[in-house]
Amino acid sequence: MADERLIIFDTTLRDGEQAPGFSMNTAEKVRLARQLQVLGVDVLEAGFPIASTDDAEAVRLIASEIKGPVIAGLARCNPADIECASESLKSAERSRIHTFIATSDLHLEEKLRISRERCLESVVENVTLARSFTDDVEFSAEDATRSDLDFLCRVVETAIKNGATTINLPDTVGYCTSDEIEQFFTDVIGRVPNSDKAVFSTHCHDDLGLAVANSLAAVRGGCLQVECTVNGVGERAGNASLEEIVMVTKVRHDRMCYSTGIDTTELFPTSQLLSELTGEAVQANKAIVGRNAFAHEAGIHQDGVIKDRRTYEIMRPQDVGAISHLVLGKHSGRHALKKRYQEIGVELSRFELDQAYRAMIELADRQKTIEDADLKSFIREIRDEQSAGAA
Ligand code: KIV
Ligand code: ZN
Repeated sequence: MADERLIIFDTTLRDGEQAPGFSMNTAEKVRLARQLQVLGVDVLEAGFPIASTDDAEAVRLIASEIKGPVIAGLARCNPADIECASESLKSAERSRIHTFIATSDLHLEEKLRISRERCLESVVENVTLARSFTDDVEFSAEDATRSDLDFLCRVVETAIKNGATTINLPDTVGYCTSDEIEQFFTDVIGRVPNSDKAVFSTHCHDDLGLAVANSLAAVRGGCLQVECTVNGVGERAGNASLEEIVMVTKVRHDRMCYSTGIDTTELFPTSQLLSELTGEAVQANKAIVGRNAFAHEAGIHQDGVIKDRRTYEIMRPQDVGAISHLVLGKHSGRHALKKRYQEIGVELSRFELDQAYRAMIELADRQKTIEDADLKSFIREIRDEQSAGAA
C-alpha cells in the first residue's frame, strides 16, 4: 500500500521569525526561503503582511521568486489583513491566505472581547472574503485545543462551508498531552459533518516539550498537514521541529508510515543557514541538527561506532546532510585515539599509544576537547624523548 503524503507547512519565516532574537531583514528572509525551496517544503508561510511594510515586502518578494511550494501569508480575520495578504501574494505561482481567529472563551472574552456569535460571524465574513482572492484558504482556530468542543466544531463546519480548504487547529500554548490531542482531532473530524471537504492540520507549540510528539499524535488523529519550523524555533519555547518530524517518518517508517517531499540531506544545511542568519546557535544536543547529534566522546561508544556505526547511530549522518565525528576528550578511549592518529597519517607503536593516551587524559582535565594540533604535539614530545633516551 502506498504511503500517505504528509504536507509539510513551514512557518519559520512567520511563527519562527516572531520569536525574540530570530528577526531577519528582507534579504535574509529571501535567502532562507530559497533554502526552504531546496529543502522541499510543501507550504512556505512567508510572513504576516499586515504586521509591517517590511513584512509585506518580504512576502511579496518571496511570492514572486520562489516556485514550487505554496506561498502562504497570515491574516487575522479582518478585511484589512486579508486584502493586504492577498496583495502581497499576488505574484505567487500558488498562494494561500491563512486566516485565523481565537475560539477559546478565554481569548474571546479577555483578549478579543467578543461573543461566540460574533466570532462565528467573523469566520463567515472573512473566510468568504479570503476565498474571493484564492482557492486555497487555510483557517486556524487559535487556542483551539482549549476551546469548547461543541463551539469549535460549529466554527470548523462554518469555515469549511464558506470555503476553507485547510483547517488548522493549533495547540497555541503547548498545553495538550499526546493522547489528548489525538482524541481531540479524532473527535472534531468525526463530529464535523463536512470534515471530508478539508485537510486537517496541526500546529503545536513546545511549552511542555511535547510539540513533536503531539504533532505525530495529531497525525494519528487524522491530520495530513503538520506545521513546523527549522530548529523548532517559534513563539516562547518554539514550534514542532521540522527536522524531527521528517526524520521520525523516515527512521520509524514502520510506525509512522508517511512520506514527505523533504530532501533530508538538506536538513543540516538549512539548520545552519538559519543559525547563521539569526546569530542564534543551535542547542548542542538538539536532535538531528545539533553539533552533538552525531558526535561520540565516551570510550565505549567510540569503540562501538568504530566497529559498527549502527551500535550508537539510528540514522546515517549523511542522510541529514551532517557528518559523524569522534570527539576526543576525557571520556575517550585508546581505540578512538589510535583511529584519529591514523586519520592524520601517524601510525603509533603500542608504547606510543599508551604515552599519547596518558597525555590526552591529562590535558583533557584542563581542556574540554583535544584537537589534532594537541595530538601532533604529544607525538612530537614522545618521539623526542625516545630519541634523547636512545642517544
Ligand atoms: O500558535 C498559533 O495559534 C498560531 C496561529 C496564528 C496559527 O501561530
Ligand atoms: Zn503558533
